[in-house]
Amino acid sequence: MRAIQIHEFGDTSNLKLEEVDTPVPQRGEVLIRTEACGINPIDWKTCAGGGAAPFIGELPFIPGWEFAGTVEEVGEGVSGYGRGDKVFGMIRFPERAGCYAEYIAAPAAEIAKRGDDLDSVTAAGIATAGLTAWQALFDKGSLQAGQRVLILGAAGGVGHLAVQLANWAGAEVYGTASGRNHSFLRSLGAHKLYDYHLDDVTQVLSDVDLIIDAVGGDTAINALPCLKPGGVMVTLPSVTKDQVIAAGDEIGHAVLPIRCEANADQLAELATLHREGKLRVALAEALPLEQVAEAFRLSQEGHVRGKLVLTL
Ligand SMILES: NC(=O)c1ccc[n+]([C@@H]2O[C@H](COP(=O)([O-])OP(=O)(O)OC[C@H]3O[C@@H](n4cnc5c(N)ncnc54)[C@H](OP(=O)(O)O)[C@@H]3O)[C@@H](O)[C@H]2O)c1
Repeated sequence: MRAIQIHEFGDTSNLKLEEVDTPVPQRGEVLIRTEACGINPIDWKTCAGGGAAPFIGELPFIPGWEFAGTVEEVGEGVSGYGRGDKVFGMIRFPERAGCYAEYIAAPAAEIAKRGDDLDSVTAAGIATAGLTAWQALFDKGSLQAGQRVLILGAAGGVGHLAVQLANWAGAEVYGTASGRNHSFLRSLGAHKLYDYHLDDVTQVLSDVDLIIDAVGGDTAINALPCLKPGGVMVTLPSVTKDQVIAAGDEIGHAVLPIRCEANADQLAELATLHREGKLRVALAEALPLEQVAEAFRLSQEGHVRGKLVLTL
């Protein structure tokens, strides 16, 4: 099969389209013919030697943790899946999953079925960002109806899904994004938006119950005073989590790190919300697998609206 591989960590010139062995599904796995795979910042961070690099073992490495496709073959011990089922998921994170490839052997317990409403490009974009948003808002953040939630980086892959999930949960939703993204975010259910180029959010917003930080570093630290006493920040970027946690400690606010986990039940919830028209994925761009370097370049610029997806 064809796959994108790296043989050494570094820049995008290391991303090679190569012929590799098609995986054989082991017990508990299904073989999936990939139709699309999502791009996440962790992908290029890992290929550069950061991110999840400590978890992936020896090179070469096929990047990618999220996908959508069709079941081709069912391994031993798998029930509930058959050839031809349309599926999607985020698998094995942070260990190697190899989703930038024509075939993936995926643990059946970590994937979900998708209906005809969820085309492969949309489904590939919903898995990691959707699970991260869900786990940050509800599992870590314990968001309740009527609470005030601020989403830093609201227009990105995670942010734009978090806006919709928080709105669906009955929260009062605030977000930061460039002004050009404000009407887009209002259409997704954000109640009030701040332009991070112009506004100091701490001067205009207070008594927030929960902050979802999809930006990290100084942006996260500067927003901490928006929290009410007892409020919580969930910080996503792992590279700055220690400094944000320390800054929270100094002023008495809890900052919780997160590592997104595979969760088939939550994927099924996301698929249901999509079918019911309560969750939509904004597609920034869908590029063919061969253009992975261009997709990495766009993601690295840090201003993607919604999701970037590779198609096969
Ligand atoms: N811990 C985990 O398990 C986990 C899981 C998923 C993601 N993450 C991390 O979470 C972060 C976000 O991921 P993502 O996929 O959402 O990234 P993304 O899609 O690349 O985010 C891009 C967005 O960030 C916005 N942005 C950039 N600087 C900003 C600022 N100072 N204030 C407000 N918005 C800003 C941009 O909006 P404008 O165009 O308006 O500037 C753009 O829409 C990444 O660092 C990623 O690695 C962690």
